[in-house]
Amino acid sequence: MRKPIRRVLVTGAQGLLGRALAAAIPRADGAVEVDLASRADLDVTDPAAVAERFRRSSPDAVVHAAAFTDVDGAEADPETCYRVNALAAGTVAREAGSSRAALAFVSTDFVFDGSKGVAYCEWDEPRPRGVYARSKRWGEELVLAAHPGALVLRTAWLFGPGGRSFVEKILERGAGGAPFDVVDGQFGTPSYAPDVAATLWKLLSRGESGIVHCVNRGVASRLEFARAILEAGGLDPSLARPTTEARLARPAPRPTFSALANLRLEAAGIRMRPWREALLEHLGVRVPGGAR
Ligand SMILES: NC(=O)c1ccc[n+]([C@@H]2O[C@H](COP(=O)([O-])OP(=O)(O)OC[C@H]3O[C@@H](n4cnc5c(N)ncnc54)[C@H](OP(=O)(O)O)[C@@H]3O)[C@@H](O)[C@H]2O)c1
Repeated sequence: MRKPIRRVLVTGAQGLLGRALAAAIPRADGAVEVDLASRADLDVTDPAAVAERFRRSSPDAVVHAAAFTDVDGAEADPETCYRVNALAAGTVAREAGSSRAALAFVSTDFVFDGSKGVAYCEWDEPRPRGVYARSKRWGEELVLAAHPGALVLRTAWLFGPGGRSFVEKILERGAGGAPFDVVDGQFGTPSYAPDVAATLWKLLSRGESGIVHCVNRGVASRLEFARAILEAGGLDPSLARPTTEARLARPAPRPTFSALANLRLEAAGIRMRPWREALLEHLGVRVPGGAR
């Protein structure tokens, strides 16, 4: 029998998604108490600290959003990346399982290698490339082994308030006024952290489990996304010039086509809005005929 959720522990609470969860959960359910654990007050790689936090907080549900998210940095420091993204996820899942708390683990489109050419469904076989991608896939496996009832929510290309995502980086570069390079030929689904947070909470409070894809609607190349950001920010979209991944020579590989299909969400009657609409909301752009 599932416990009613009265208290939820959020790890990685100072991160982009963590902040969105901190806003979304009380908005959806004012009676739920949210225990926000930032890295400064809970290092998830310390099993004793995790156990102590569970004892003190006694959560009915946990959202594990803490992660090592520096994709290129992971290639230089694989041990830290595997400790945070995989081993610590297993620790949190064991604690949640043994205290009968519901659990959501946040994962990524990077678990796929990008060779499929059309959007990935929940049943597609993951083939992670690079340290970050492999660590997140291992995290999924450890979480589901330790807590078979856990929700594993895969999302992608997050942007939102309070973070320094691709959106903010592109606006900063555009504000400089000089042309700059953005990868063309790399496709995915930009996703708005507040939309993902609200949906995650809906699923967790309904008791959903297993792997669920959760992205805004639509597919974009990085270049197309960058140009949409510049345009929405009142800057010249042509400042973003196409380049290739090979020319950027970054340490970590990226999937060329990692769009996700929200099959399980749609089967549950949940339809995400288009990423362009969410981008305009994020940048405070008024849409003619829209609410803002
Ligand atoms: N951002 C994306 O585009 C994206 C795409 C797909 C999936 N995801 C997944 O979504 C989740 C949330 O990502 P995000 O974008 O919110 O990332 P984020 O902004 O980097 O937030 C992650 C948070 O985890 C914290 N953290 C790192 N190591 C920790 C540790 N040992 N103990 C406790 N906290 C620790 C970080 O603290 P510091 O800042 O102090 O390091 C940061 O506050 C992650 O699981 C990520 O893999 C993100």
